[in-house]
Amino acid sequence: MKKKITKAIFPVAGLGTRFLPATKSVPKEIMTLVDRPLIQYAIDEARAAGIKEFIFVTSRGKGALEDYFDHAPVLEQELRKKNKTELLDILKNTNMDSGAIAYIRQHKALGLGHAVWCAKRLIGNEPFAVILPDDVIAAEKPCLQEMVEAYEENPGCMVAAMEVPKEKASAYGILDVKAENGPMVSVGGMVEKPEADKAPSNLAVIGRYLLTPDVLRNLNKMKTGAGGEIQLTDAIAAEIEAERPVYGYRFAGQRFDCGSKAGFLQATVAFGLARDDLRDSLMSYLQDIVHVDKAAE
Ligand code: UTP
Repeated sequence: MKKKITKAIFPVAGLGTRFLPATKSVPKEIMTLVDRPLIQYAIDEARAAGIKEFIFVTSRGKGALEDYFDHAPVLEQELRKKNKTELLDILKNTNMDSGAIAYIRQHKALGLGHAVWCAKRLIGNEPFAVILPDDVIAAEKPCLQEMVEAYEENPGCMVAAMEVPKEKASAYGILDVKAENGPMVSVGGMVEKPEADKAPSNLAVIGRYLLTPDVLRNLNKMKTGAGGEIQLTDAIAAEIEAERPVYGYRFAGQRFDCGSKAGFLQATVAFGLARDDLRDSLMSYLQDIVHVDKAAE
């Protein structure tokens, strides 16, 4: 019988070196986009997709992340006393039911594939989702929800896919497309970080995955790949070799790479402009600075 996807892995054990010195003491996933940490966007997306169990693969120095999901009785009591119901509602979203959240350590940053493998005992023999919180997606229908709906019709492995210019291919895992069917593509191969002239297509994998437990079994046997890390892409590509289905899903929405400074700044502007309480003042500021810049040219 087809199993529903109710578990998600959030690999958050990376070093976040692109945000040093901030990430010396603040986990990247706690950094704030407008007024919510990156991890909250990921959790909200997972909940919308029907995820009930949240598994974090963490590392040394990520304590703030665990605290974030704790109840805050003193703060809540204070807000209740002051009748701040709106703020209490906002806080409610950050709370997790007891037993719904698990933390597991990755002792060494050996790559995304290794981080996912670390959670294998908590996954067992079920399909599961993987969400990279530094990929933030602005979309009418949350990306993972779209994917889960597509998965229900087409079980197998599925990766979120997005078109990128060929010269940027070397920053992504790239799909070799066998067949197209609306937003779904059937994948005939995957290459991690190819040079532009060796990229099999312009469809790149971004940080949302629906995976079968076979991928965990593949990771058991995995050796280090591109960049000396254990690559999740390689373990998914092994599914294609085993002639099991792997799909790419062209999601509707805009993805921001909040693992990079430029992407984080763009997301801050986009999410700020999407907010009723901030749009007018932010827009008028942006217009002013663009105007001043143009006048100076
Ligand atoms: P990145 O490639 O963005 O690496 O990882 P990073 O360490 O977070 O950041 P930089 O490049 O040093 O700035 C993509 C995702 O995979 C997780 C990261 O936490 C991030 O969510 N990851 C990566 C792990 O959990 N473990 C690893 O060994 C590597």
